[in-house]
Amino acid sequence: MDGNGRWAKQRGLPRIEGHRRGVETVRTVTYAARDLGVKMLTLYAFSAENWNRPKDEVGALMGLLELYLKKELDTFVRDRVRLMTIGRIDELPQGVQRHLEETVDKTREFSEYTLVLALNYGSRDEIVDATRAYAAAVAAGREAPDDVSWEAFAKYLYTSGMPDPDLVIRTSGESRMSNFLLLQAAYAEFYFSPVLWPDFSKADLAAAIADYARRERRYGLTSEQVKPVVAAK
Ligand code: FPP
Repeated sequence: MDGNGRWAKQRGLPRIEGHRRGVETVRTVTYAARDLGVKMLTLYAFSAENWNRPKDEVGALMGLLELYLKKELDTFVRDRVRLMTIGRIDELPQGVQRHLEETVDKTREFSEYTLVLALNYGSRDEIVDATRAYAAAVAAGREAPDDVSWEAFAKYLYTSGMPDPDLVIRTSGESRMSNFLLLQAAYAEFYFSPVLWPDFSKADLAAAIADYARRERRYGLTSEQVKPVVAAK
């Protein structure tokens, strides 16, 4: 969700106005994705590196997040949206953690559509945390070190039980991964949109999905293997 700062700057507004508009886009895109048939949407809302931004901006973002969670709880329950999180949640402010816990708890039964918020998330932190948890499981005799496989290790990632992303979209014209789902996106398709996040619309999301639908995902195979030719009689 990149480009909030530039959106504000272009209008001579403080950066936080861009983030405020960004929250509106979060609402729009959450429902647009569901309407377009997406089953799980993950939003990179706050990276582990974002703590290094000016103190006022970090405080304002945490405030916006808390307000958003407070406002959305009833809507999520009404619309059967399941909320999940990935990231080092225990390092977020207490108020944010409380609202997250409550929303995750009250929506855990819903299975049609899931919104995942990546908060205080960084792929490298995730890999370190998973390795630590895996090592602890080995030490406790719950895992055998020789049996380590991708499937066994992936159970210790924050995304345990979630499908890998099919499509990763980055807005605002930047073409970087920025420490986002590095392992999980191994076979994802990427889409880079020039649109700044506050302006990103349902039509922009539909265009990204249409572009994705035209691609051939080969997973290391040849085109012929993926699309076997039907033998003519
Ligand atoms: C990137 O734009 C955006 C962020 C670092 C924060 C994203 C947060 C929100 C949209 C609001 C809070 C989230 C939720 C789920 C309520 P940038 O500031 O890096 O923009 P720039 O690159 O133009 O400066």
